[in-house]
Amino acid sequence: KPAPVIAVDGPAAAGKGTLAKRLAAALGLPHLDTGLLYRAVGRLMIDAGLDPASTSGESIARTLSPDDLKRQDLRTPDVDAAASLVARDKAVRQALVDMQRLFAREQGAVLDGRDIGTVIFPDADVKLFITATPYTRAQRRYTQNGGSESAPDREERIRAVEQALIERDHADSTRASAPLRMADDATKIETDTLSADEVLSESLRIVRAVM
Ligand code: C5P
Repeated sequence: KPAPVIAVDGPAAAGKGTLAKRLAAALGLPHLDTGLLYRAVGRLMIDAGLDPASTSGESIARTLSPDDLKRQDLRTPDVDAAASLVARDKAVRQALVDMQRLFAREQGAVLDGRDIGTVIFPDADVKLFITATPYTRAQRRYTQNGGSESAPDREERIRAVEQALIERDHADSTRASAPLRMADDATKIETDTLSADEVLSESLRIVRAVM
């Protein structure tokens, strides 16, 4: 039987990364956070003084190294924005396709991203689409970023995070190349009222039903 592939897609800050990592550990599979590929290209373009809105990151994408993905400065707001711009570039996406498929070739993998179930692995064994309202996702991201629950400007700051998430989702969903979209054969998990543990057990139930 060929190596199992599990696709975990969804909008920004839905908890895909946490789920994919825990799912991979539970199943003994390698995990790839594919957002890191676009983030690393965005980061390297910023470092080189290149504007991702007007310059192609293709050559950077083609020469991406594993060390580039290990950098600690890939989750800043400027890289969020750069990655989303980089991700519109068809040549960049093409450069990263083989890398993602090769990653899963030997042992299979859990991959999280936006187009894993639609473009990268349309024949994935399991496709999960993880989502929550923008407000829920903004609250989680605020807390994750060390925001205080008693800060007087908490609500205002969550609304600002929410606005940035909505803009990024809109850009990711409306681009021409591999837009964020749920695959027709994916299972959607709405996580607004679920804990991370509950999302994991629900996902494992779905995986075990087919594998
Ligand atoms: O998942 P994450 O928020 O780290 O992804 C950063 C950006 O990379 C996304 O906003 C999206 O534009 C892009 N991306 C993508 N396809 C993927 C993963 C991420 O276009 N499979």
